[in-house]
Amino acid sequence: MTGRIIVAITGASGAQYGIAALLALREQPGIETHLVLTRAARATISAEADMSVEQVRDLADVVHSDNDLGSAIASGSFRTDGMLVAPCSVKTLSGIANCYDDTLVVRAADVVLKERRRLVLLVRETPLHATHLRLMTEVTTAGAVVMPPVPAFYTRPASVDDIVTHTVGRALDLFGIDIAGLRRWTGDRGHSPTPTPIRAVES
Ligand SMILES: Cc1cc2nc3c(=O)[nH]c(=O)nc-3n(C[C@H](O)[C@H](O)[C@H](O)COP(=O)(O)O)c2cc1C
Repeated sequence: MTGRIIVAITGASGAQYGIAALLALREQPGIETHLVLTRAARATISAEADMSVEQVRDLADVVHSDNDLGSAIASGSFRTDGMLVAPCSVKTLSGIANCYDDTLVVRAADVVLKERRRLVLLVRETPLHATHLRLMTEVTTAGAVVMPPVPAFYTRPASVDDIVTHTVGRALDLFGIDIAGLRRWTGDRGHSPTPTPIRAVES
């Protein structure tokens, strides 16, 4: 383990996932985060997040420009434990699937795959057509983990933050990182009250 994790935030809806990942990784001793924001991510951060782009950049240990193809993370000789793309747009998914390495996010993801390191893509789009599904199959074949940010309800989330935190915790599980307070299913079905049905079934 190098303790280095690359976090990319792209222009799909859900910049909060990348922000939550950076916040969680800050609490992990010995982890150095390398952040790349795409141009579109700057727009979604402004539209969706309670933080400015500058505040998001300040959460990372090292920030790389998406235009800087000479950056350390563009080379396999710079050792990392892998890369989390949260959220991952269809455009970036397509770039990674096709090794179209003209941005740092796509190049760094390609490097992570070629070095057989962990790549986790929180692909966010819905509904999906056949080409989206084909691209996901291709990156999976190349070694990536496609993890659409789909909420779990067994944790009984009370807020959007709960949903985001749980998804990010499960994504970081894939790097062997255990974040504090992640609610896990224990098999104990008696610990919470019977769920209220959304609507009564009429007889
Ligand atoms: C508010 C907003 C929400 C968007 N949501 C999505 C989305 O959920 N998934 C997606 O693939 N693209 C989404 N897009 C479009 C991407 O931002 C666009 O395709 C962009 O070129 C992606 O570039 P990037 O991958 O370099 O960040 C959204 C755009 C805006 C402005």
